[in-house]
Amino acid sequence: MVGLIGAMAVEVESLMAQVEDKQETRIGMDVFVSGKLFGKDAVLAVCGPGKINAALCAQSMIQHFHPEWVLNLGVAGAGESSVSIGDMVIATAAVQHDCDTSPIGDPVGLVSKINLVELPCDEALRARLVKAAEVLTDVKVHEGIIATGDQFINKGDVRQRIHELFHAKAVEMEGGAVAHACYMHGVPCGVLRSISDQADGHSDMDYPTFVKLAADHSVKVVEQLLRQA
Ligand code: ADE
Repeated sequence: MVGLIGAMAVEVESLMAQVEDKQETRIGMDVFVSGKLFGKDAVLAVCGPGKINAALCAQSMIQHFHPEWVLNLGVAGAGESSVSIGDMVIATAAVQHDCDTSPIGDPVGLVSKINLVELPCDEALRARLVKAAEVLTDVKVHEGIIATGDQFINKGDVRQRIHELFHAKAVEMEGGAVAHACYMHGVPCGVLRSISDQADGHSDMDYPTFVKLAADHSVKVVEQLLRQA
């Protein structure tokens, strides 16, 4: 069984529609759809935006379904100007850019208790995602840090600061939380994002314009990933 989490319906609903022998399991306010997806046992959920929604959903998924890995898929803002709308970013690691205990001597981004800034993403899963992303022939694929926080970033200077601190290639609101939950349970994790906006002053217009196109890119990569294995 593999686990797939998207923050919003648009990021996973087309995959959910293709699940065979579908079962629905409710845990609190999360709904998990499980069954066969492209021949693989899979469980899918829409976690809702933000770190706590994502972490709670990932934790419930892990405890109830015991997935061999969990992938957070969907859309993101670009982390730097060389990353364009429509590009894919596959995480080497995720960070939580809004964790900041630096006034008491910690590095910015340190996640207390687990004492990490960079939350690891599984290397074997990343390599498989990179291979699967070849299905998108005209799309540039980047590998690097994905930065997560409870903010929709729509200011160039905020994006710039996150990039300077973490070398982020993409900014979003859930990947670092899914990676956090996976780390705490020893479950391999991946984060796959397609760029819907530049995380700058145009994001309020670009995001609604490109969210569906970007979400479809990451869905196509997941389909290829599951068909390949
Ligand atoms: N998801 C898509 N675009 C985003 C942005 N600009 N900031 C945070 N999350 C996003």
